[in-house]
Amino acid sequence: MKEQHNRTPREIVKELDRYIIGQDAAKKAIAVALRNRYRRQQLDTDMQKEVTPKNILMIGPTGVGKTELARRLALLVEAPFVKVEATKFTEVGYVGRDVESMVRDLVENAIQIVEKQKRGDVYTKAYEAALQRLAKIMKPGIKKAKPKQEGMNDWQNMFKNLGMPLPENQEEETEDVTAEIAQSRAEIIEQLRKGLLNKREVSIKVEEKQANPLGGGNNEQMMMLQSAFESMTPKKKTQRTLLVEDAIEVLVQEETDKLVNKDDISQEALKLAETNGIIFIDEIDKITSKSQNTGEVSREGVQRDILPIVEGSQVSTKYGAIQTDHILFIASGAFHVSKPSDLIPELQGRFPIRVELNDLTEDDFVRILTEPNNAMLKQYIALLATEDVNITFTQEAIRKMAVIATEVNQENDNIGARRLHTIMEKLLEDLLFEASEIPGTDITITEHYVDEKLEKIVENKDLRRYIL
Ligand SMILES: Nc1ncnc2c1ncn2[C@@H]1O[C@H](COP(=O)(O)OP(=O)(O)OP(=O)(O)O)[C@@H](O)[C@H]1O
Ligand SMILES: [Mg+2]
Repeated sequence: MKEQHNRTPREIVKELDRYIIGQDAAKKAIAVALRNRYRRQQLDTDMQKEVTPKNILMIGPTGVGKTELARRLALLVEAPFVKVEATKFTEVGYVGRDVESMVRDLVENAIQIVEKQKRGDVYTKAYEAALQRLAKIMKPGIKKAKPKQEGMNDWQNMFKNLGMPLPENQEEETEDVTAEIAQSRAEIIEQLRKGLLNKREVSIKVEEKQANPLGGGNNEQMMMLQSAFESMTPKKKTQRTLLVEDAIEVLVQEETDKLVNKDDISQEALKLAETNGIIFIDEIDKITSKSQNTGEVSREGVQRDILPIVEGSQVSTKYGAIQTDHILFIASGAFHVSKPSDLIPELQGRFPIRVELNDLTEDDFVRILTEPNNAMLKQYIALLATEDVNITFTQEAIRKMAVIATEVNQENDNIGARRLHTIMEKLLEDLLFEASEIPGTDITITEHYVDEKLEKIVENKDLRRYIL
């Protein structure tokens, strides 16, 4: 994780360049904000407290890469990250639905990150323990008479009365292990390690995931109750027959569960979210008081709810309390109808870094089609290749698509690069339909091909409006 924070702004921009064309100003601002958190962590504690993140407001027309930028950023930084649509807090039925949920989601995300890392750390240990257990199952010892069960205590009685399985204090039965058995277990372990027994079947006891006795329910109290309940009830075990390779996986999971400490994970995750978390608030322009629809939660109200979180306050989560002061907020919106100044002043003030994203040009479209690692053309080429249909695009064909996209954007709504998606779909519609029937074909998409498929639609105003 450390490596990620050490990226210089230039390196971060370079990474983003692999997926997003242009929008250099936005990339730069984000890169600086990220690096500043790393810088802050090098300061002494007193100074650290003083340096709060400079939140970013991204302003730009629809379909030019705002959300895409956030998405890529999340994948890139491995910092806890959540994206919320500001509009969801205005939906009817959301009254009182606390905007704090975005912070809780952030903590959830941090838990996942830390848990994954911790589980990775103990993997070798868990794997060895799993092999030991499996070898024991595959080559059992000589059973001894089981010591008589003592009278059930109150606790056990309670479970019994509730119709729940008894906690198994010791799953291990007492057994004698002769030298011979030990030897043969050692051999089994070696074979398991080499994967020689993978396809054999073995019967093991597996912890069952407890069905939730409290029923569904999504609110915070319910969730706390649920997790309390889960930790109280013993895990029920059932006997299952599995392939050895699957059994190993199950056992590794169980052993890992024993090795990682849930409290440690919670603590670390809270800290991580607090210092490195990023919350992306999309569509923030839609919660300005302009064009308020009736029957919705007051938009200004939503802004007021968001404010304390952005300013820094404490939010309680089921893992503990988290302070939001140092979470980085990136807000984004098209601001067609409204302007940033339509936001309540306090909130405006919390987003001091404003970056504008530009309209995309014809050249940008050409690049978006071809350059990014996951470029649209590459995607369709790969899709059709699965049918053994190989398509290539000529430069002229690509240019033609960009020209059409620009034209349609100018004359109808400007939906930015999203236009390319509809154009591609229309262009390749027939091919995508027929591909399964013509394996082994090579097809070159030429300018002529593009014209043929799209010209009629582009020329006809009404068709254009509905189809592209
Ligand atoms: N600069 C860009 N580089 C590469 N692809 C882009 C770019 N801009 C847009 N796209 C493509 O267009 C799609 C839509 O972009 P995105 O979701 O980022 O729009 P947006 O700016 O968030 O718009 P909105 O304001 O409507 O939410 C993306 O999935 C991506 O494929
Ligand atoms: Mg968006």
